[in-house]
Amino acid sequence: MKRFFSVDDITNLDAFIQEAIQIKKTPLQKSELGKGKTLGLVFLNSSLRTRLSTQKAAQNLGLNTIILNANQEAWTWEFEDGAIMNGGTVEHIKDAAQVLSQYCDIIGIRCFAGLTNKEEDTSEKVFSLFEKYATVPIISLESATLHPLQSLADCITIEEQKPINKKPKVVLTWAPHIKSIPHAVGNSFAQWMNKTDCEFVITHPKGYELDPKFTQNATIEYNQEVALQDADFVYIKNWSSFEEYGKILETEEDWMLTHEKLKVTNDAKIMHCLPVRRNVEVSDEVLDRPNSLIYQQANNRTYAAQIVLQKILESNENA
Ligand code: CP
Repeated sequence: MKRFFSVDDITNLDAFIQEAIQIKKTPLQKSELGKGKTLGLVFLNSSLRTRLSTQKAAQNLGLNTIILNANQEAWTWEFEDGAIMNGGTVEHIKDAAQVLSQYCDIIGIRCFAGLTNKEEDTSEKVFSLFEKYATVPIISLESATLHPLQSLADCITIEEQKPINKKPKVVLTWAPHIKSIPHAVGNSFAQWMNKTDCEFVITHPKGYELDPKFTQNATIEYNQEVALQDADFVYIKNWSSFEEYGKILETEEDWMLTHEKLKVTNDAKIMHCLPVRRNVEVSDEVLDRPNSLIYQQANNRTYAAQIVLQKILESNENA
């Protein structure tokens, strides 16, 4: 593996998930693999889980980590080619990426959608520029359109919890939120679910359709109650409008997931990537019920990161 940006960077997803589950059982088995090597983690946006789980995964492999909070502690980056930098930006991304590549053997970068320029976000301007100028393998820690480490952890969690001898029904349900939120988690979950053996349904109010490039043939059901019928897993997530880019169309508070709504499900297991706005997106009662998987998902972030780092280190060893 030379990079990790989306599900398309994995050749056999089922085998990859099974291997991650094995790594979870013996996480220190390859604790020498990364010895003497450095993972750089660059954050243009905030993080709790991605930062610490990836750092823990690196430790399990013997990698050193260095972290740059590029939005807070570094020089302000310029992204335009040929820019006359006589304004607020101090360092061009081409210089930052090449310098960081001198210090690191692998670099992870988090660069959210700005939600103001659809073309820039959908073309993955920041991630693409960073990868173009870096000279080491790059891992996405969530980009403008996708969050692959989260989706891999979600696939591991579903594999661990899915019913035996039954194709699971997985429902991604839109949830209300007070802020304009990127589409990356929803897009990415759809992209990965479309590659697994499940009945996958997405439900949201009209106007909140995700980019069809990622949802592809998933069933879209505008009636939340109909969508939730017989669900084995319910994944809750907010996103802003893609069509009216970045907008919150109207307050849809009645889309908050409640205990009452889950009565039509197959005693569904509850998923959320976190952080979650409790009692806005989903009620406390739902998040804290025994079959809530939110902390298992967060735990699996470590093993998702670990298998990706392991594969990159191994392919570099064999290069
Ligand atoms: N789910 C997730 O990516 O969490 P953080 O934003 O805290 O990293």
